[in-house]
Amino acid sequence: AADELDARVRAAKRILGDRVMILGHFYQREEVVRHADYVGDSFQLANAAKAHPEAEAIVFCGVHFMAETADLLSGPQQAVILPNLAAGCSMADMADIDQVEECWEQLEEVYGDMDGVDANGLVPVIPVTYMNSSAAIKGFVGRHGGIVCTSSNARTVLEWAFERGRRVLFFPDQHLGRNTAKAMGVPLEQMPMWNPRKPLGGSTARELDDARVILWHGFCSVHRRFTVEQVEKARAGHPGVRVIVHPECPMAVVDAADESGSTDYIRKAIEAATEPTTFAIGTEVNLVQRLAADNPQHEIFCLDPVVCPCSTMYRIHPGYLAWVLEGLVDGEVRNRILVPSDVADPARLALERMLAAKP
Ligand code: 13P
Ligand code: SF4
Repeated sequence: AADELDARVRAAKRILGDRVMILGHFYQREEVVRHADYVGDSFQLANAAKAHPEAEAIVFCGVHFMAETADLLSGPQQAVILPNLAAGCSMADMADIDQVEECWEQLEEVYGDMDGVDANGLVPVIPVTYMNSSAAIKGFVGRHGGIVCTSSNARTVLEWAFERGRRVLFFPDQHLGRNTAKAMGVPLEQMPMWNPRKPLGGSTARELDDARVILWHGFCSVHRRFTVEQVEKARAGHPGVRVIVHPECPMAVVDAADESGSTDYIRKAIEAATEPTTFAIGTEVNLVQRLAADNPQHEIFCLDPVVCPCSTMYRIHPGYLAWVLEGLVDGEVRNRILVPSDVADPARLALERMLAAKP
């Protein structure tokens, strides 16, 4: 049946030609990735969605927030298709727009006029959202002078935000926010974590006044599984091992690793190694296995001994890919992701600010 699906996808692609562009995230399974016209991390895929106005349809093999982003950045006539609508992201779901609005109102009570600037020309808070969030959250950020980041440009984006605001409200991923701000020299005491169930998010007015980065309580269920013990075990069992982890991992794991970076950073670090090297990688297992297969000169393994897949990325089964492509062949757009225009305009603004922010 796998061969049959493969043949169906190939046949539909052959008929559609340049009319369709298939984008695949690094975490997609091999049976899907092999059909992608372009494979990348979330930042690269956002750029790819913008760069192909000739395609009538963009089939996005990734998760829902990525397809929304592709819809925001592609042309109005282009249809963005998510092969399985159940491919969401548990982290993105952790920042709910109502909670974020409520948080902002509470912060307004503490800081006063959110548009007012201090003697240095800075507003009290700039909201920054990780790409892994809904279009509604990106729209919120766009409306409040904020910006989107990905794991490959989080530092550049935080620098952009600190040129405009005294503080940053960062969501949904506490770990990416903490790891990035820490690497920039922000002390942990100046990174309170917002608790939506407590007045003032559980912090005192004084703590909020001193805050530099107010963290949201979200996390990635895949990356939070990595532990310092796994890093220690890899070092004990493989002298000379290079440990590279994704910045969605907890701070202690990032600190214990040799390096941290986005999925594309990890790929490039491995490909740039000239000597045969042992790599222990802390990210999603489909990517780690592909890197191992593509780079046989190195020994590459996942830090987590129990397979560590992203279950929602895995919902893009090749059967769904064949189904949406065959729909296009028949003139039917299946599973279109269309962001409503009231959200799309400010969300696009927040994304464009990110694409324009230069390191
Ligand atoms: P990047 O592709 O930006 O590294 O993000 C990883 C991820 O978790 C995507 O959901
Ligand atoms: Fe979301 Fe984590 Fe999966 Fe990325 S790896 S899509 S952050 S659950």
